[in-house]
Amino acid sequence: MSNTETSGWGSRVGLILAMAGNAVGLGNFLRFPAQAIENGGGAFIIPYLVCFLLMGLPLLFVEWSMGRYGGKFKQHSTPFIFDSMSKAPYWKYFGVFGIFTNIAVAAFYCYLESWALSWAYYSVAGTFTGMSLVEVQAFFQNYIELGTSHPVVFWIVCLLINTWILSRGLSGGVEKVAKIGMPLLLVFGLILGVTGVTMQAGTGGSGPIHDGLVGLNYLWNPDFSSIWSFEVWVAAAGQIFFTLSLGMGSIHCYASYLNSKEDIALNAMSAGWMNEFVEVVLGSMIIIPISIGYLGIDAISDMVSGGSGLGIGFSVLPKLFADWGAFGVFAGVMWFGLLFFAGITSSLAMGTPVMGFLSDNFGWKEKKSAWAFGAIIFLLGIPCVLSPDAFNEFDYWAGTIALVIFALVEIILFAWVFGMDKGWREITTGSDIKVPIIFKFIIKYVSPLFLLIVFGGAIPGIIENATKETSFYGWLARFLLLGLFAAISILVYLAAKRNFKTKLY
Ligand code: ALA
Repeated sequence: MSNTETSGWGSRVGLILAMAGNAVGLGNFLRFPAQAIENGGGAFIIPYLVCFLLMGLPLLFVEWSMGRYGGKFKQHSTPFIFDSMSKAPYWKYFGVFGIFTNIAVAAFYCYLESWALSWAYYSVAGTFTGMSLVEVQAFFQNYIELGTSHPVVFWIVCLLINTWILSRGLSGGVEKVAKIGMPLLLVFGLILGVTGVTMQAGTGGSGPIHDGLVGLNYLWNPDFSSIWSFEVWVAAAGQIFFTLSLGMGSIHCYASYLNSKEDIALNAMSAGWMNEFVEVVLGSMIIIPISIGYLGIDAISDMVSGGSGLGIGFSVLPKLFADWGAFGVFAGVMWFGLLFFAGITSSLAMGTPVMGFLSDNFGWKEKKSAWAFGAIIFLLGIPCVLSPDAFNEFDYWAGTIALVIFALVEIILFAWVFGMDKGWREITTGSDIKVPIIFKFIIKYVSPLFLLIVFGGAIPGIIENATKETSFYGWLARFLLLGLFAAISILVYLAAKRNFKTKLY
């Protein structure tokens, strides 16, 4: 299936699994349930599904087709994919976001991923056996505050695993991991999910106080009043971005290794829907039913402030698993193994645009560019490991705001500058399904308007966050993020001079 590129995809199944792996991440199992609980359970689900249809799917089509289009010019990262779509010289600088976000998100994301690795190890070692909930919570807190040397060790191991896989290339590394990791993740998720929703209350002792279905109903009973809450819409849009890995530049990169006549519409749908299955079906069957089943809705609502399910995933579940006897050890390994696979198939996708950029524009080989990526996320990850303030700055600016800005820019470029007629041809060329024509309208008008409203609504928060006092590490993080953006822009400038000489387009 791959074209003349040396590092294309080995098979269509491999591509879809890698794309789904890119999307399916920690966000599906930890962020989604926490966002849902924080936004009142059933109140979240309608805005979430509407955002998926009006923004998620259209942006998937756009990003896949931009990627495949750029691939024709042997470009695999957004600065020069954008550049190939317009004669104006400035679009490539907007494309900087598609490198910047991947590096900045990977810097903190790999640290979270390493928690899953270490918790899998602790589950096997029986570390949580006999601990009370408060003790597991204290263990987790101590870990985050670097109370032991383990976090750093696991983090470095995790970075080395990522770098090594990336250095083996797309079909030799990323695709192989997706082919093993995704099926395992689905099996683990199904076993844990079925256990969660079939859990029976009233078994006495330290057993659950509610049936598993109580948590599931809490999430899935739609509350129509939510459509009047702007905040719920912003949260739902943010979740759609994060979970589908939209606005990052990683989808463009994966799609750029397709040849120009290969299907993108069905591929995009398959990967997108697979992500939604994992998120809304499996993601809602595990931590919500289990934690609400044992502790009740109120206790769990208090634990998710900030929209993060990390506390439930890493300190509540291990305690409950420890009460499940021998099955609990398997449950722990499955849960943290699942999180690790979910995480690594996403972080690998963050590495590939950076590698593509270095190899397309500066002729770097796979190994060299993979190690360069590993080194930079190690350096930028240090403040995130040392301080939650730095971690939160990275998460907010790169993991939330940059995604929306980038998506707004790319949809304007695609629908209004490149042109919707040409854009539609790109989406439908080689398509194995008939894409409903309504998407042409949605991509041109509805999604940009939607994004403008979301961005407009986020502006007060952006101003507040930019001017907020923070600690030394918080400031360091802001400085590093700005420095990173500037450094990539300079590289793009240098690459443009080089490409101009070689008459790229
Ligand atoms: N899409 C990835 C996730 O959900 C980043 O975690």
